[in-house]
Amino acid sequence: MPLMRSAFIALSHNKTLRHIAERSRIGVRLSSRFIAGMEIDDALRVAEARNKEGMAVTLDSLGESVTSEREAHQAAEVYHRLLDALAERKLNANISVKLTQMGLGLSPELAETIAESLAQHAQSAGNFVRIDMEDSSLTQVTLDIVRRLHARPGLRGVIGIVIQAYLYRSQADVEQLIADDIRVRLCKGAYNEPAEVAFPRKADVDSNFIRLSCMLLDSPIFHGLATHDETMIAEAKSFASQHGIDRSRFEFQMLYGVRRDLQRQLVRDGYNVRVYVPFGQEWYPYFMRRLAERPANVLFIAKNMLRQ
Ligand code: FDA
Repeated sequence: MPLMRSAFIALSHNKTLRHIAERSRIGVRLSSRFIAGMEIDDALRVAEARNKEGMAVTLDSLGESVTSEREAHQAAEVYHRLLDALAERKLNANISVKLTQMGLGLSPELAETIAESLAQHAQSAGNFVRIDMEDSSLTQVTLDIVRRLHARPGLRGVIGIVIQAYLYRSQADVEQLIADDIRVRLCKGAYNEPAEVAFPRKADVDSNFIRLSCMLLDSPIFHGLATHDETMIAEAKSFASQHGIDRSRFEFQMLYGVRRDLQRQLVRDGYNVRVYVPFGQEWYPYFMRRLAERPANVLFIAKNMLRQ
């Protein structure tokens, strides 16, 4: 299985396949399992439906690694429109942003300026910006940008980060983020990382996820535990109940199209659930990472296609 995982992640970087897939009707149909649609309105419709089911949402306007400043500003513009639309429709949804989509690969200053303007907009709209975490070459610069923005006047609590349990460094990062009062989304991690920086064994990633979950739950800050793994969820629930941590003090986060049964069950049990809803035309790398997590998805999607 790890081989399949690496193969799908490697394919996620293939430009030719991406070009063909994102423009093909069949590709768009296949991706709809994990992607809300191509337009802002599709995302807003899904957000509204999830809100009606008692779930909060975070919206991801798909795209990463832009190659010009103009593209970075265009990508940011979509998020500005989203923040306005969310406020207008009074939806319970925030935004998830990748710094490489905001120009990090061109210049960290550009990405920081754009992220700051999004955070300021979110602040005035009473909303929140989550900065997604990308591969390990970007961990430090992402942390630095989020820390600096969080420290700016008026932006405290408006911006949060993602920590990946597969990285050895994450425990130290979590300790520092808690000390800095910064909200964390904890996930296992979705990229191919070498053994120099990340646990190669899934069992070690899982143990670290549990250890970091407990540290986050024990802190006074509102954090998100992003996983579909029932063992991780059971451990978090049991730690919270043993330590008298109320369900209102944290949330579980899951991806659109993954384990909807579990999402609904958690809501029924009185837990906060936030669904990560991606939308937009640049769906290919995101879609391939979802196949990497569960290669059986390929069969599942193929069967559904044949049935239609
Ligand atoms: P694991 O991969 O062990 O899966 C546990 C079980 O969950 C599987 O057995 C299966 O039942 C189900 N499952 C998991 N993935 C599935 C899929 N794609 N399709 C169907 N079933 C699936 N990563 C990152 O590097 N940076 C980030 O910023 C984020 N952000 C993020 C936000 C949110 C809300 C979530 C839920 C996840 C992320 N991730 C992420 C992705 C994350 O790192 C990880 O790759 C996936 O969540 C899969 O890991 P699980 O914790 O679900 O466990």
